Order: sequence, then C-alpha cells, then structure tokens
Amino acid sequence: MTIQQNISLKPYNTFRLEATARFFVEINSVEELKSILQNPDYQSIDKLFLGGGSNILLTKNYEGLVVKINLKGIHKVFEDNSHIHIQAGAGEVWHELVMYCVENQYAGMENLSLIPGTVGAAPMQNIGAYGVEIKDIFEELQALNLETLEIETFKLSDCHFGYRESVFKHQFKGKYVITSVTFKLNKVPVYKVAYGDIQKTLEEMGVKSLSIKAVSDAVISIRKSKLPDPAEIGNSGSFFKNPEIPKVQYEDLKARFENIPSYPINETTVKVPAGWLIEQAGWKGFRDGQIGVHARQALVLVNYGGGTGEQIKALSAKVQASVLEKFGISLSAEVNFI
Ligand code: EPU
Repeated sequence: MTIQQNISLKPYNTFRLEATARFFVEINSVEELKSILQNPDYQSIDKLFLGGGSNILLTKNYEGLVVKINLKGIHKVFEDNSHIHIQAGAGEVWHELVMYCVENQYAGMENLSLIPGTVGAAPMQNIGAYGVEIKDIFEELQALNLETLEIETFKLSDCHFGYRESVFKHQFKGKYVITSVTFKLNKVPVYKVAYGDIQKTLEEMGVKSLSIKAVSDAVISIRKSKLPDPAEIGNSGSFFKNPEIPKVQYEDLKARFENIPSYPINETTVKVPAGWLIEQAGWKGFRDGQIGVHARQALVLVNYGGGTGEQIKALSAKVQASVLEKFGISLSAEVNFI
C-alpha cells in the first residue's frame, strides 16, 4: 500500500475531468483500509472514498486523501431451493457482477446491466434502471464504521432505500465505507420487461422465449443507443434526478404542455422525467466548447475532452434555472459535487 502525492484523478472519474489529489492510495483489503485510517499522519485530513468515480463531479483539486476502494471477490454465500445469495467486494465493477450472475443464470440483476460504477457505490444511491432498483435484490451489506473501525451489517430495512436515496446519503453520510454487498437472486427468473423499450427491443432482437441473457442484452442495447460510453465521452450518467412534484402542479403543467410524460408515485405525487423537461427547455444537444448536453439523452451532461468541472457545474446551473423558469420545477443533481 503506497500513498502517492499529487496524483491526477482523470483516470478515476468517468467525466474524465482533470483534478489532482494531494494524497492518493488504493486499498485491497479491509485491513489496509483500517491501517490507513489509523495512520496518525492522515487522521486529521479530509478523505474521499472512491469507487468507480461514476457519480462525481470534480470541480477543483482535492486537498485531502483519496482512498480508492479495490476490495475484490465474488462468492456464493449459500443457496436454497429458490434463491442464491451472492456476496461481492465493494470494489468489484458493477457490470462485471451482473455479467457473472447472467452467465450463471442467477436472476434479478439483468435490468441493471451496463450501469457504470462499483458494487460498493451501488447501495449509496440505490441504483436503478428499467423498473428495477438494487433494493429489489438486496440482502445486506457490510460497512466499516469510520469512528469505531468496526465492521457493521446493514439489512434492507436499515438502509432506508428510496429513489436514488439511502441512509448513506443522509444521517450516515461520511460515517461508513461500504466493504461488501450481498444480493439475493432468484433461481426462477421473474422478468420485468414492461418498462420503456425493453419489449420492443426484444422483438427487434428476434427473441422468441425470454431468458436472463436476452433481457440483459436488450438493456445493454438500449443503454448503448441512448447513453454515451464514458470510455469515449466523459459523463456521469443522469446528472439530475427525475423530480417528484405535487399532482396539482402536474395537472396544471399538463394543461399547458399536453405531451408531458409522467409516472404516478402515489395519490398526490407524480414523477416527471427530467430529460423531457431539459429537452423542452431547448438544451438537448447543446454544446459550448468542450462540454455540453448529450444529443440523445438530455439528462446527461458531457465532457468532450478538456472541459472542466467548473464549466459543467455552471452549465448545470443554467439548465436548472431554465427548467425552473419554464416549468416551475427545481431539478436536483444526482451527481455529487466535490
Ligand atoms: N426523455 C425526453 N428527452 C430526453 C430524455 C428523455 O423526452 O432527452 C423522455 C423519454 O422520452 C421518456 C422519459 O423521458 O419518456 C424517460 O426517459 P428514459 O427512459 O431515457 O429514462 P430517464 O428517466 O431519463 C432514468 C434513470 C436512468 C435509467 C433510465 C432507465 C434517473 C435519474 N435516471 O432515466 O438512470 O437508466 O431511467 O431506467 O432516474 C442514471 O441514474 O445515471 C441513469 C442512467
């Protein structure tokens, strides 16, 4: 375990933004993590625990210690007649875990194919796509308490999962590092293909009988067609959350914008796609130098190469202001500003 100084974080964030870390270390075991936290030289400085760097916007150099979590390992904890419990280290790449489950016919994660990031970051914001969220397959997680340096177990009900939300973004923010996550997967698949274009894509693919692999392939195909590949164009997936608004406000908007899409949340609340609002506000495909709004999905801000976090931040503020002005809706960022 070597602590490096003044390291470029460009390879460690999917926006491909240039920023340096004053100190940088990669940890490969919980023991290494504990040892760095106990090291008196670094005890009083700020720390940023990094997974795949797929949900951060680096707006400046980081003056503290960046700890890259490289905890690896995927193994079967146990299985019964209907379920398989799989534990994965926090540093495993999320999509590689999904591919492992798809290949082994473990069902439940296939709709979450190709989401960038690591296993340990996934519960932080209850990642979700195509009608499935991590909470649907979550069994428990282990996390290091940064104060006591003890490993604690969090069951489903402890995590308070919501739409892109968990306890780790609120009362336990900065208090734990997730070290592993255990998932409960189905031996008999329960396919969720009603969402978005999955059904249509399966038909286009000529799929006659559903399989875990076919659903995964369809999701991969849809994501590739809409979302920029971070290896080619820097981005962080959806930049904003889809706003939830009072039903009365939605009805008022519907009277003015008859095509406004919506998903009912409950009797009084409606979710509206931020991508639609941003597109209607005229931003889709907008480009200013090296940054912009993706041409095929307005919810994604992009760095074409050489853009800065400050520029992306300024653009996001302009997008927010114009959506607020046009629709009276305040968008909140899904991405964490550092
Ligand atoms: N839409 C537009 N214009 C756009 C983009 C979207 O009109 O530029 C409309 C679409 O036509 C559709 C609706 O908005 O009616 C929803 O679009 P889409 O299915 O692409 O999904 P989304 O709501 O924009 C969410 C997640 C994605 C996830 C997809 C699929 C959030 C913040 N984002 O996007 O997650 O992949 O659903 O389930 O909830 C991520 O979090 O990084 C992410 C990519």
